[in-house]
Amino acid sequence: MKQLSIILLGLAGLAISCKKKTTPSANYANAADCSTLVDTVNTYTKSTVSIINLNCTSCHSSSNPSAGLNLSGYAAAKSSFLNGNSLCSIHHGSGCKAMPEGAALSSSDIQKLDCWVKNGCRQ
Ligand code: HEC
Repeated sequence: MKQLSIILLGLAGLAISCKKKTTPSANYANAADCSTLVDTVNTYTKSTVSIINLNCTSCHSSSNPSAGLNLSGYAAAKSSFLNGNSLCSIHHGSGCKAMPEGAALSSSDIQKLDCWVKNGCRQ
C-alpha cells in the first residue's frame, strides 16, 4: 500500500511538472542589472509608457484587447507587467507568447521594463 501511494504521488508530480508554466515576472525583474538606470527617471510617465505605447497598445488597448489583454494606462500596464505574463513575453520566455507579435524589443527597452518592475512600477 505504501509503495502504491509513492507511485501515485510520483505520477501526480510528473503530470504537474509537464504542464507548461510561464516564468514569473519577479524572476526577470530580480535578474536585471539596473545599475545604469535611475529609478526616479525610469518611471511609467517618464520612461515605460512610451515603450508600451509604441510597441504594445496597437494590439492591446481597451478598445482592441488582443488575447483579452489591455495594456493602456498605468493600472492596466502595471498589472500585466508585475503579475501577468508581459515580462515573460518580452523576454520570449518559455511557456508564454513571444511579444511584440513577430518582433522583439531592444535590450535597452527590456532592461527599462525589467527595472521598472524591480523598482515597484513607479508611476
Ligand atoms: C501586432 C499585434 C501585437 C502587438 C504589437 C503585441 N501583441 Fe501581445 N498579443 C497579440 C496577440 C494576437 C496575442 C494572442 C496570441 C496567441 O494567443 O497566440 C497576444 C498575446 C499576448 C500576451 C499573452 C496573453 C496573456 O495575458 O498572457 C501577452 C502577455 C502579450 N501579448 C503582451 C504584449 C506586450 C507586452 C506587447 C508589447 C511589448 C505586445 N503584447 C505587443 C498581439 C500583439
